[in-house]
Formats: sequence, structure tokens, C-alpha cells
Amino acid sequence: MTDRLQLRALRRPEDDDALAQFLGDNEWPFHMRPRPTQADAARRIADGRYDQPGNAAFWITLKDQRIGFAALEDLDDDTPLFDLRLALDARGRGFGVRILQLLTREVFERSPEARRFEGQTREDNVAMRKTFLRAGWVKEAHYREAWPVEGSDPVASVAYAILRRDWETGMTTPVPWGDE
Ligand SMILES: CC(C)(COP(=O)(O)OP(=O)(O)OC[C@H]1O[C@@H](n2cnc3c(N)ncnc32)[C@H](O)[C@@H]1OP(=O)(O)O)[C@@H](O)C(=O)NCCC(=O)NCCS
Repeated sequence: MTDRLQLRALRRPEDDDALAQFLGDNEWPFHMRPRPTQADAARRIADGRYDQPGNAAFWITLKDQRIGFAALEDLDDDTPLFDLRLALDARGRGFGVRILQLLTREVFERSPEARRFEGQTREDNVAMRKTFLRAGWVKEAHYREAWPVEGSDPVASVAYAILRRDWETGMTTPVPWGDE
């Protein structure tokens, strides 16, 4: 048993049912599909969503218990992307920043092509926005009205990224907003 938060590679197809259950049992208010059914989730997993070339998927574990799921995409590109989902009862306990740091290390250590690591979230996902900043990421864009919301007006999508060189040096390269 270990106290550490860890990323553990998703095993397919052994873990398919458990992952579909995890995705169906929790709500994802800031994702495009806030309440996927277990069957929806099972279909997407079986369709190969997490095992295309350049993708990787992980359970997030604490004391060997699964508390979340994370996926990486475009690892063979210069800008990989991620999805991060903690179970309802694991949210609001300060794990997000540590997990984002683990994912960042995973990307830059396993993918020599990656120069940047990028993520977007809805403007009202306060917890994720704080998590980005606390993990040393920098806001790069605010796409107004870019995120469709069923039954109401769209919200903004906010983009953050961390550079490999910033991760290596612990420095932060600012965005040159005043260059016009
Ligand atoms: C987003 C997520 C990864 C953040 O991780 P977390 O461990 O829950 O975040 P923390 O507990 O460190 O909370 C970060 C901050 O947000 C605040 N916060 C948490 N939930 C909040 C909410 N619903 N509304 C407002 N603020 C909130 C916390 O109070 C904390 O701020 P503080 O330290 O100044 O008090 C996690 O909540 C999650 O998986 N959510 C569901 C999936 C999701 O939205 N993923 C993001 C996809 S891009």
C-alpha cells in the first residue's frame, strides 16, 4: 500500500467495465456530456477512444484506491492535451494540482516531441482554473462564447499551457499581451 497519489496505466480490456462504471457513476458538470450513462461510456471506451496511437489513459490512485481518471492525447505532437476527472468524493480536497503536476511530468518525460502541454476548461470551472495556475500553468487564451451549453447561452472556453522549458527551469514565461 502506498500513501502517494499515483498514475496507473489503464489496462484494456480488463479495466473497461470499471472505467465505464466510474464515468457513469459520477457527474461531470463542466464536460460536454455531464451525465454519460454507463452504456455510453462503455461504447466510447470500446471504440478505442483511449488507445489510439499517441494517447494514454490512467487511473488516479490514492492509497491504492481509484479516485479518478486521466487521459492524454496527441503525445506524438508538439502540444499534447489532457482530460482529468476526479470522483465526486475526491473533489475539493486539493488533489487536482498534484495530479496535474504528475501528468505534466508524464508528458514531458515520455514524449520528446512535446514542447508544450495544453488544456482548456469552461470559464465557470473555478476549481480547474485555480488548479492550472497553482501548477504553474499560464493562461493563454479566453475564447468568448466558445463552449456550448445545453439550454442556455454558451460560456467562454479558457486555455492554459505550460512550456517544457518552464517545467524544466521552474520559471514562468509570460504571454506578451501588450505587443500590439
Ligand atoms: C477540476 C478538478 C480536477 C480540481 O481538482 P480538486 O482537487 O477538486 O481542486 P481543489 O480541491 O484543489 O480546489 C481548487 C480550488 O477550487 C475551489 N473549488 C473547488 N470546487 C469548487 C466549486 N465547485 N466552485 C468554486 N470553487 C471551487 C477550491 O475551494 C479551491 O480553492 P481554494 O483553495 O482557494 O479554497 C476536480 O474538481 C475535478 O475532477 N472536477 C470534475 C472534472 C473536471 O471538471 N475536470 C476538468 C476538466 S478540464
